[in-house]
Amino acid sequence: MLGNHEVAPILVESLKRLEYRGYDSAGIATLNEGKLDRRRALGKLVNLSDALVHDPLAGKSGIGHTRWATHGAPSVNNAHPHQAGPVAVVHNGIIENFRELRVELAEHGVQSVTETDTETVALLTQHHMAQGAAPIEAAKQTLARLEGAFALAFLFDGHEDLLIAARKGSPLAIGYGEGEMYVGSDAIALAPLTNRIAYLEEGDCAVITRTSVEITDRNGALANRAIKTVQIDSTRIDKAGHKHFMSKEIAEQPGVIGAAIGHYLTPEGQINISTQDIDFTQFDRIVMVACGTASYACLTAKYWFEQIARLPVEVDVASEFRYREPPISPRTLAVFVSQSGETADTLAALRYCEGKAARILSVVNVPESSIARESDLALPIHAGVEVGVASTKAFTCQLVVLFALVLKAARDRETITAEAFADHISSLRGLPAIISTALEQNDTMQEAALKLSHARDVLFLGRGQMYPLALEGALKLKEISYIHAEAYASGELKHGPIALVDEHVPVVVMAPRDALFDKTVSNMQEVMARKGKVILISDSKGQAEANDGVWFSIEMPPVPDALAPILYAIPAQLLAYHTAVAKGTDVDQPRNLAKSVTVE
Ligand code: F6R
Repeated sequence: MLGNHEVAPILVESLKRLEYRGYDSAGIATLNEGKLDRRRALGKLVNLSDALVHDPLAGKSGIGHTRWATHGAPSVNNAHPHQAGPVAVVHNGIIENFRELRVELAEHGVQSVTETDTETVALLTQHHMAQGAAPIEAAKQTLARLEGAFALAFLFDGHEDLLIAARKGSPLAIGYGEGEMYVGSDAIALAPLTNRIAYLEEGDCAVITRTSVEITDRNGALANRAIKTVQIDSTRIDKAGHKHFMSKEIAEQPGVIGAAIGHYLTPEGQINISTQDIDFTQFDRIVMVACGTASYACLTAKYWFEQIARLPVEVDVASEFRYREPPISPRTLAVFVSQSGETADTLAALRYCEGKAARILSVVNVPESSIARESDLALPIHAGVEVGVASTKAFTCQLVVLFALVLKAARDRETITAEAFADHISSLRGLPAIISTALEQNDTMQEAALKLSHARDVLFLGRGQMYPLALEGALKLKEISYIHAEAYASGELKHGPIALVDEHVPVVVMAPRDALFDKTVSNMQEVMARKGKVILISDSKGQAEANDGVWFSIEMPPVPDALAPILYAIPAQLLAYHTAVAKGTDVDQPRNLAKSVTVE
């Protein structure tokens, strides 16, 4: 930021709002009486702010960064900003040709002192300046050499009123203040400072002073990027009495699911998505693309789309999809699901489909995000800000919105009777109350979690639409408790993984008393016959039929079959949460992870 007050405390506050991007180290650089000065610290942002208390940093122009390591281990030396002589740089993304650039720099006697790709950007700019280029020219010469993805900000010795920002692949927003100017990799970081935001486009470079912004596009031509007034909540979100954000976000689900349902159902019991927005008779196939938990929401929706709307659906994780060159036609609907709306692989997959003239629909939690902005139609999930790194309420709200979309598709394609449609609508309306009842099982989940916390490996089983939930349960458990967990479609177990089962392996079986229950129970018996310790999650009917010999039972309230995946997300989340608490791990910010993954 180019400010009119001391910037270090403001930068730290803004970084707090960006900590979801990474939290392994952080740093800021300012121009202190015209000279670059830096403070960096390993670990969470609080370590940097503590360091600044003892060793403050003066200056009204500064840049800051919170890191999720790509190249080089988390360390103070690898933390941003990276400085080379008169230039300091912060960077999101990956400079793919940094090795090549390093070799070139070494030939000129310029050596790297960190293990990062980012340092190369600072070194190259310094090198151009040493050869006589002024800062703007030097930065532009550097940008022309970079391959990969980046959002970059440059600050220069002796240039109090100059900030250079550039974007290729990673998002970057410019905030307009009163005689101040800001740049952030997410407008959320700028929310307490301004609501006047312009988003840079691919290949843009912005030369910023306190009173002006000059943007050039990828061809070097002057460009105008609209300044929008955005509504982003500037208050910091608190834990509302919970020990962790994750537990607060789990508990919020009846409310936010109710809000999502309220947005997508009309009082007359119709789906509130117009046929002008989307008409499913125009498509003969859907591809759904996402990462992690969001990809399991897609996988669940595949069962719904195929069974209820009779539309073939292909689901892929974005990192595979984007390089697979899948055939896409204008009669393909491409659906992208992303909580953050910024996941680099999902965004790249979206752009691939856009290039093939597919219709692009996204299901996002952040309406201002890149994925939402680049879609033909973006459906917000209304989950509210999700802070815990492990996705909970965003997952269930994604499922609600996808279910509404499936009902719309079934109506458009006339694959559902009016009665069946009305039944689904009334089921949806009843869902928040059922979720509340499930949450009352918290103590039982805690008891089961205590048992799980001693395990080294845990298996999750589910069949049909419960299979994606088993995948989600295993992912949740491993990411926050660090216990190795895998999920299998129940029927697949005997084709190999059953070799893992012995008396030390808990097996979580997700089995509402639906049409596939007996099949799942047979697979569960196969596990118990090999001394596997089964935790059965089912309803009272299911338990009455299959409780014999199980290690632990968790009872879910009855739920209409189609909505069982949304309900069974609750035990998946609570089991993981309580296991992590029992193990004493960092629930909200588990090791090695970040909330939003903006590198591929
Ligand atoms: C797991 C989790 C991740 C995300 C994934 C995609 O709990 O949160 O697997 O689902 O990184 O992120 P978004 O939804 O932001 O695209």
